[in-house]
Amino acid sequence: MDTKPFHILGIETSCDETAAAVVSRSGSGVRVLSNVVSSQVALHARWGGVVPDLAAREHTKNIVPVVEEALRASGLAVRDIDALAVTQGPGLIPALLIGNVAAKTLAYVWKKPLVGIHHIEGHIYANFIRKEAPADRQAADGSEPRFPLLALVVSGGHTQLVLMRGHFEYEILGETQDDAAGEAFDKVAKMLGLPYPGGPVVARRADSFRMKALASGSVPTAEKFPRPMLKNGGFDFSFSGLKTAVLYSLKKEAPEKLQDETFVDSICYEFQEAVVDVLVTKTKRAIREFRPKTFVIAGGVSANITLRERLREMVDRHFPETTFATPDFAYSLDNAAMIAAAAAFRWAHMDEADRKHASGNWGIIKPDANLKLSTDPSAT
Ligand code: KG4
Ligand code: ZN
Repeated sequence: MDTKPFHILGIETSCDETAAAVVSRSGSGVRVLSNVVSSQVALHARWGGVVPDLAAREHTKNIVPVVEEALRASGLAVRDIDALAVTQGPGLIPALLIGNVAAKTLAYVWKKPLVGIHHIEGHIYANFIRKEAPADRQAADGSEPRFPLLALVVSGGHTQLVLMRGHFEYEILGETQDDAAGEAFDKVAKMLGLPYPGGPVVARRADSFRMKALASGSVPTAEKFPRPMLKNGGFDFSFSGLKTAVLYSLKKEAPEKLQDETFVDSICYEFQEAVVDVLVTKTKRAIREFRPKTFVIAGGVSANITLRERLREMVDRHFPETTFATPDFAYSLDNAAMIAAAAAFRWAHMDEADRKHASGNWGIIKPDANLKLSTDPSAT
């Protein structure tokens, strides 16, 4: 692996964030020099979800200023950038197209190599970004996560347990058979009349319900909803039955019940507990079977505090020899630092021929809505 210092400028437009970032790699880990995210949440909230064509229009407006700001804030000049990186997929094609066209144009004009990155690979490599103020054991000595590594990927589009025996060696142990965990949060929020994106709102209300119950001296129970696929399914998940269970339980209530804040909070709590129980139980089984040196969480739902706390308790209690690493909150949700970080590791593993090949990628890379994780360091 090449250990010479280098800089990567990354671009991410797979969904509703226009993002660009610059990272540097020298020695151990990857440092973020700038991380710019222009969110379209307010725009899509009116429609209760992401509208692909609207997202593309916003990306078109924002991409140039966002890239300019990322470069300016990094303190570097174009000549200091060794390679560009872009999210090639999966994601919404109209949205991906804008980032890909921008990255390809810049690669051509600036004469830089271009690396295509899988969005989920980016989320996983967010855990390899060096922490300035280490909050967990892993980062305390500045060392990188060690392999074998188990990743619990929980985002709006994915729920997977991924085992990595080395860089880019992805083995999907199990994945959702229907809805992703984040998607279930968003759909339950919609049923409850809560704004998009639902995950953070449902989480806040669930946590507030628990805190209020604890403050009044009671420990809330959560038995209303099923824990799907716990008895079977290996490491696969399913969240659509849970979502339907929430829907049926709401149908039994009078519509005015949704105006009752405590009732809505209690549903959020019951739902979140069911999701967290399933994720923690399946993860525990995977750690027991594969004994990874490092366990990480990745994707937007990794911002969920209850999920982080319950996973930490489980790892500390049952697997003290496994290190649990979490991404900084800034790198949990969609961002370009994670894309540049993944590209930095791919770049470090490429030989001269691979890098030369990447110089021609401006003419080759195409966005792919169904891109698969690739184990070849130079594959784009
Ligand atoms: O990774 P991400 O930003 O975009 C995708 O790649 O899909 O994940 C977005 C998902 C959304 O479904 C959002 O509701 C969920 O992550 N999310 C959360 C939380 N913050 C974001 N879900 C639960 N709790 C949270 N605190
Ligand atoms: Zn994501």
